[in-house]
Amino acid sequence: MTASLEFRDLPKIELHLHLEGAAPPAFIRGLAREKSVDIGGIFDENGNYTYRDFDHFLKVYDAACTTLQGPEDFHRLTLAVLEESASHGVIYTESFLSPDFCGGGDLAAWRDYLAAIEAAAAEAETRFGITMRGIITAIRHLGPDQSRNTARVAAETAGDFITGFGLAGAELMGRPGDYTYAFDAAREAGLELTAHAGEWGGPDMVADTIRDLRVSRIGHGINAIHDLALVDVLAETGTVLEVCPGSNVFLNAVKDWPSHPIARLRDRGVKVTVSTDDPPYFLTTMSDEYANLARHFAFGPDDFAELNRTALDAAFCDAKTKERLA
Ligand code: ADE
Ligand code: ZN
Repeated sequence: MTASLEFRDLPKIELHLHLEGAAPPAFIRGLAREKSVDIGGIFDENGNYTYRDFDHFLKVYDAACTTLQGPEDFHRLTLAVLEESASHGVIYTESFLSPDFCGGGDLAAWRDYLAAIEAAAAEAETRFGITMRGIITAIRHLGPDQSRNTARVAAETAGDFITGFGLAGAELMGRPGDYTYAFDAAREAGLELTAHAGEWGGPDMVADTIRDLRVSRIGHGINAIHDLALVDVLAETGTVLEVCPGSNVFLNAVKDWPSHPIARLRDRGVKVTVSTDDPPYFLTTMSDEYANLARHFAFGPDDFAELNRTALDAAFCDAKTKERLA
């Protein structure tokens, strides 16, 4: 039995999963064939996504997304992704959804995509026993103006399913304060907030994100480890980190698993959770993440139970849903 099989059946809460980033390569190849879309050399000889570095990863990601052309494609994608997550024991997942990839940010088009995604999520809940909520996500490298539109779209469609607003993409373009307007609008609409920071940027990027965007969670946040005073602030304020160690290792945000700061952050009192980010891009699954935490940091059942409690506490869903999943 491989190490990850040992963890497959353990119930898991995942807070950080990009829906398009979870698309299996074979799924994208199938769509490309069906629609005669030329996506160039984004796959290696084994059929996996291939890219040189983070910037190239974002380009390959965008190229793969050009095959996702309508609500029906997103319906199929959502079902496929949730079936795969559920097969690794995930009982609750929060997925980043980008209206920019779903009709170019147009509100009327987004409503159709959202209906398809939500219908697939309801079907997956019945068939696979996994609950999903959506976090509408602005894409940094599309700029602050576009993020305001994304926030408006998010505010218009906030509800039981769309419960959060986030920010992903090229972290080093601009500063968190460029997105204050969008996050203020999303907060006013009742959405909960998270932003990628400290994956590529330093501790200053994490600190500015908390100050300027007033998020309760940070995507990644791992570079906070380079400023222990900031780590203590994260611990004192209960700011939750959505840590994606397999992603960080694969993209070389850290050197290797043993040098990943997740255990050091946790030991200093920071609330950490574990997610896969874009699993097929990083050849990972939630079972693999757990197996690596056990192998490199001696995480055991109590540690995994704590990770999941922290994640459920920090989840962007209502108390009733949390009670059901506890
Ligand atoms: N979009 C998809 N995956 C991402 C990551 N790891 N960082 C920033 N933006 C992303
Ligand atoms: Zn991410």
